[in-house]
Amino acid sequence: MPSFIAVAYVSSACRRFTAEALDALLVDARAFNATAGVSGALLHQDGSFFQYLEGPESGVAQAYSRVKRSRRHRGLIELVAAPVEQRHFSTWSMGFAEPAASELQSIAHATWRAEHRAACLHPEPSPGLALLLAFWKRAQFDRSSAA
Ligand SMILES: Cc1cc2nc3c(=O)[nH]c(=O)nc-3n(C[C@H](O)[C@H](O)[C@H](O)COP(=O)(O)O)c2cc1C
Repeated sequence: MPSFIAVAYVSSACRRFTAEALDALLVDARAFNATAGVSGALLHQDGSFFQYLEGPESGVAQAYSRVKRSRRHRGLIELVAAPVEQRHFSTWSMGFAEPAASELQSIAHATWRAEHRAACLHPEPSPGLALLLAFWKRAQFDRSSAA
């Protein structure tokens, strides 16, 4: 079974990100993540960030250490860093969405640590991951029906 880890965190922008600055961040992050085998999603609203990174342990560790070193944000709070059985964002080297502030807050404030049941082969996603996946599915649907 492939061994992946996932990390989720929240942080705050040091300065307001312009659309161009966000684009540049995504280009840079996606290029690194693609080579490191990392996938995931970045949510941003009004200076608040939430990010979910998943992939092989060494790739995630490298991307996450770049995240932690970045001086463009502060107040990083790690919500979870744990082994996972599967990827949920395999087609995204870093997906991006700007949810409503309330939606970002509910994802950020949900429980991210999954209950650990050793006997369970397919553990339920944590409440936080379930909210993120439901939001992501809706955001993709809205995008494709608007196209
Ligand atoms: C909110 C946020 C998310 C980021 N996500 C990633 C990422 O997924 N992968 C990655 O390699 N770097 C990521 N970075 C790091 C940036 O690419 C970083 O800006 C770059 O390493 C340059 O450092 P600097 O921001 O201090 O100039 C992220 C940075 C921020 C602020």
